[in-house]
Amino acid sequence: MSVQISPSILSADFARLAEEAQAVEGADWLHVDVMDNHFVPNLTLGVPVVESLRRATGIPLDCHLMIEQPDRWAPAFVEAGAGSVTFHAEAAAAPVRLAREIRAKGARASMALKPATPIEPYEDLLPELDMLLVMTVEPGFGGQAFLDIMLPKIRRTRALIDRYGLQMWLQVDGGVSAETIERCAEAGADVFVAGSAVYGADDPAAAVKALREQAAS
Ligand code: DX5
Ligand code: ZN
Repeated sequence: MSVQISPSILSADFARLAEEAQAVEGADWLHVDVMDNHFVPNLTLGVPVVESLRRATGIPLDCHLMIEQPDRWAPAFVEAGAGSVTFHAEAAAAPVRLAREIRAKGARASMALKPATPIEPYEDLLPELDMLLVMTVEPGFGGQAFLDIMLPKIRRTRALIDRYGLQMWLQVDGGVSAETIERCAEAGADVFVAGSAVYGADDPAAAVKALREQAAS
């Protein structure tokens, strides 16, 4: 299983987004958290910022939509240049149609589960997705403590992916750090979002490299 690291720019300086994107050279993705103050109690950025980021970095953009009505908005994020678009299962009106639309427009389609949302009701949808995101904090803010109680869900999701023989990725997001990444990898995750653990470090690129090595160990 190959390890991928996706630093979250939520923990970066929003006045210097281009430089902050360039500071994580070597990362596989740049994780972009879109929040609407309805699905989560926080407000961040939207389509125009993604368009600008696309021009500012060669790192592919991993857009995590923590918004209501993702069916309406996700296609615009693909058009803005996202390489992967994640919508929340709890918010999507028609997740199969939405995943197909994201793929048809040329991006990877991904679905996220909040901590209290089980994977089992969505088992049959997995072949429609390129990635499943298991949230390891309640979405809305960076810098929260990793929820160890999510490890069983990561394991169950990995077992389902393997049972179906799927090539899809399994992402974790929230509280991923030098202290917690090995537990996530051991449970079966292969794409790791890290905000404060990367942008809170003196050398963000070195932090990405260290996390990658730890996850692979
Ligand atoms: C939280 C966001 C995360 C956040 C992670 O709702 O989805 O991507 O930026 O930040 P850390 O790694 O600091 O928990
Ligand atoms: Zn996120």
